[in-house]
Amino acid sequence: MCGIVACRTSRPAVEYLRVALRRLEYRGYDSVGVALRTVTGDVARLRTTGRINALDQLVDQWAGTRLDGAGLGHTRWATHGAVTEANAHPHTDCTGRITLVHNGIVENADELRDELRAGGHRFATSVDSEVLCHLVEHARARCGDLFEAVELALSRVKGSWALAAMEAQAGRIVVAANGSPLLVAHAPHGDFAASDIGAIAEWVDEYRVLDDGDVVELAASGRWSRRGGVAGQRPAAIKCTWHACDADRAGYADFMAKEIDEQPEAVSRVLDQLGGGIATGELWAGLGLPPFTRLRVIGCGTSLNAGQVIGHAVRRLGGIPTAITVASEAAEEIPDASQLCLAISQSGETADVLHAMESTAVSGSPVVALTNNPHATLARRAHAVVECAAGTEIGVAATKTFVCQIVAGVALMISALVATNRLASATANRLVDDLRRLPDQLFAAATVAKCVVPPIVDQVGTATGFIFLSRGAGLPYAAEGALKLKELSYRWAEHYPAGELKHGPLALISTGTPVVVIDNGDPKLALNMAEVRARGGHVVSIGPAGCDVPLADIRQQPWGPLESAVPLQIFARNLALALGRDVDKPRNLAKSVTVE
Ligand code: M6R
Repeated sequence: MCGIVACRTSRPAVEYLRVALRRLEYRGYDSVGVALRTVTGDVARLRTTGRINALDQLVDQWAGTRLDGAGLGHTRWATHGAVTEANAHPHTDCTGRITLVHNGIVENADELRDELRAGGHRFATSVDSEVLCHLVEHARARCGDLFEAVELALSRVKGSWALAAMEAQAGRIVVAANGSPLLVAHAPHGDFAASDIGAIAEWVDEYRVLDDGDVVELAASGRWSRRGGVAGQRPAAIKCTWHACDADRAGYADFMAKEIDEQPEAVSRVLDQLGGGIATGELWAGLGLPPFTRLRVIGCGTSLNAGQVIGHAVRRLGGIPTAITVASEAAEEIPDASQLCLAISQSGETADVLHAMESTAVSGSPVVALTNNPHATLARRAHAVVECAAGTEIGVAATKTFVCQIVAGVALMISALVATNRLASATANRLVDDLRRLPDQLFAAATVAKCVVPPIVDQVGTATGFIFLSRGAGLPYAAEGALKLKELSYRWAEHYPAGELKHGPLALISTGTPVVVIDNGDPKLALNMAEVRARGGHVVSIGPAGCDVPLADIRQQPWGPLESAVPLQIFARNLALALGRDVDKPRNLAKSVTVE
C-alpha cells in the first residue's frame, strides 16, 4: 500500500528520500513522487507512474534552484483515481506553498471538495488526498500557522490518514495519523517521519509511533497534540531493531527465494523466544487473559490460512469449538460471550482486521494479536500480543511469516490448553519436541523441492488453471498453495476439500489439468486422486515417500503437514518465474493492505 516519508535534514532531503522510497517499494505501488524544498523556499515536485528508477532520473535531471533539506516522498497504490502522474502524490494547494502526502481514505471528500470549490479553491485531480491539501491551505489562511491548520483541517475529515504537510517557505513539516501507521524519529542526520521503520532505519536508533488523532511538528522538540489537545504523554520510544541486511537479497535472485530459505532459522527463533513457557502454560498465563471456551480466529489471505491451521490444532488438542472468520466479513458473525479472539496479521496494519476488531463479533471479547510487528496498530489495540518473530519479510507473498504464525499460534494455544487443564504437560512436552523438529524438516523439504519441483513445473507450466486438494488438517495448506500460485503466476488456482471434488469441481478436470494434492495421510485421498487420474488429470502429490514431492518424516500432527508449505511456495515461485513474473512484487498487490 501507499508509503510515506518526510524529512528535515542538514544535507539535501532528496538524498534520504531516494533511499527511503526504495525501502518502501516492497509495500507495492503504482506511482511515486517527491516534493523537495529549494534553498529559495520554493518546491520541486517530481512525480512519475514509472518505478523509482524513473523518479531517480527526474531528480538527476533537475536543473532548477539548488535543493534544500526538507522534503516529502510517497509511493502510491491507487484507490481513488487512475494511475496517472496527476494523481500521484505529493499534492499541492492553489498557491503551491503547501504540499502534502497522504495514506488512507477521506470518506467525506466529495462534500469537502464541493465546499472548498465554492470557496474558490481549484482542484487538479479527483483524488481524495488533494482535498486535504486545500483544507490545510484554507485553515492556514485563517489561523496563520501550519500546525494549527493541520489540526483544524483534520477536525473536518471523516476517514483515515497518515499524512505529512510541508510549508515550503518556512521549511516546516507537520505530520498526523489516524487509523493509518506513521512514526517519527529524531537523529543526528535530521528529523524523519515514515509509515514504516524500514524506510529510515539506517539513520535512526529509536522512533515513536503516532497514536490515532496525533498531530506532530517534525522537529526534535516540536509540538505533539492529540485530538486537538496537548498530548499528555508522548508514545514510548521504541528501539530500532531493523537491520540494513533485511533489505539485502544476500545473493539470492529475489527476496522470496531468500525468505523461503530463512524459514528453518525463523522457526528456531520463534521457538527459542516462546519455548520455555509453552509446555508449562506460562506463555499463556503471562498474557493475563481470561479463560475461554470458544476461539474465534480472524485474518485475511495467508494469515487466515495460518488461522485455519491453528484452529484445527485447538479443536483437535482441546476439543474447543473454533470459528474462523474472514476479517472483512466479521460484521456478519454472531458474538459469543465466552470467546477469545485471535487476530492474525503479519503487518498488523491490515484495515480489514482492524475494522473487524470493532465489529460486534469481536468487540467486547478479549483479543490477542499474533503479528510480525509488535508495535503495529493491531498490537496496540489488542489486549495481548504474541510476536510471530519471522523477521522482516520483503516479498509481497507471505512465506516465512505464514510458517512462523503457525508455530507461534500453535505454541500459544498449547500453552493455553495446559494452563487451563485441558492438556497434560507430558503431551505438551511431546508436542514441543515435535515443534523443535520443524526447522530440520523444513530444511529437508526445501532441499527435496528444489530438486523435484522444477521438472514438474516444466510439465504443467502451460496450464491455465490449477486445483489444490487435501482433507482435514491438510486443507489450509491446499488453500495456501492455491493462493501463492494465483498471487504470483496470475493463473487460476482453487482449492477444495478433496471430498467436494465429485460435487462440482470434477467437471473442471480434463486431459492434463494439474491437480496438486497435499497428502496428509488421509486414506480417502487415494480414491480422490484416482478419480482425477481417471479423467486425464495430472496429479502432483506432496506427501510421504512415493509422492511426486516426497517429504521425509511427515507425520500426522495437530498442525498438519507444515513442511508441505515449502514445496508449495517453491512450486508457485518457479511457475511464476517461468512465466516471467516479478515474484517479489506481483501485480495489483501490496504488502500491507491498509484499505478495506
Ligand atoms: O499483513 P496481513 O497478514 O494482515 O496480510 C493479509 C493478506 O493481505 C496477506 O496474507 C496476503 O494474502 C499475502 N500477500 C499472500 O501471500
